Amino acid sequence: MKKLSAKQQLRLEKSGLLLALMLPLARIILDYFHDSLGANPVEAMTHRTGDAALQILLLSLAVTPIHRYFRFRRAILFRRLLGLTAFFYALIHFSIYLVFDQELSFGDTFADVAKRPYITMGFSSLVIMLPLAITSTDKMIKRLGGPQWRRLHKAVYAAAVLAVIHYWWLVKADLTAPTLYAVCLIVLLSTRFAWWARQRNNKPVIKQPG
Ligand code: HEM
Repeated sequence: MKKLSAKQQLRLEKSGLLLALMLPLARIILDYFHDSLGANPVEAMTHRTGDAALQILLLSLAVTPIHRYFRFRRAILFRRLLGLTAFFYALIHFSIYLVFDQELSFGDTFADVAKRPYITMGFSSLVIMLPLAITSTDKMIKRLGGPQWRRLHKAVYAAAVLAVIHYWWLVKADLTAPTLYAVCLIVLLSTRFAWWARQRNNKPVIKQPG
C-alpha cells in the first residue's frame, strides 16, 4: 500500500477528529427524527448543544498544556479545529434559543440578554468567540501578525469562564456538572499561570553596562 505523505496523514487525522466531534450533532438529528428527544425536544437540543460547545471549548484549552507538559507537539495541529467546532456548537445552541424560545424576535432576545444574568453570560461568551473564529484562518493570522493574533486569542479563556458562569447560574438544584466544568477550567487556567510565572522567572536579566 502507498505510504501517505505527512500532509495527507494530517488531513486524515483531522477528518477523523471532525467526524468524532460531529457525533453529538448526529445523535441530536437521529433522536429528533426518531422522536426520542424526550418530552421537551427544544430543551434537550439546547442542553446537548450547550454541553458539546463547553466540552469542546475546554478540550481546545487543554491542547496547549498537553503540548507543553507532555511534549505532544502534534496536539497543536488540532487546536483550531477544536476551537471552531466549539464555536459551531455554540452557534447552533444560540440559534435553537433564538428560533424556538424567542421565535426569531431580536428585540425579545436582546431584552432577555439584558434581563437574565445567565443569558448575559452565555451571550457574552459567544460574542467573544466570534472574532476568534473569524481570525482563525491562515490569511487572518498573517494579516494580524503572530503576537497580535496570540494576544487576541487569549480571550478564549474569558469565553470559557463566561460559559462556565452561564451554566453555573442557570442550574437551580444539582451543581455537580457545572462544578466539574469549573474544576477543569481552574486546572487549565492554573497550568497557564504556572507556565507564565516560570517564563517570567526564567527571563534573562539584561545587565546594565558598567
Ligand atoms: C449565545 C448566547 C447563549 C444563550 C442565549 C444560551 C442559552 C441557554 C439556555 C436557554 C439554556 C438552557 C437553560 C435551562 O434549561 O434552564 C442553556 C444551557 C446551557 N448552555 Fe447556553 N446559551 C448561550 C451561550 C452558550 C455558550 C457560548 C456556551 C458554551 C460555550 C453555552 C453552554 C451551555 C451549557 C453547558 C448549558 C447547560 C446544558 C445542560 O444543562 O446540560 N451556552 N443555554
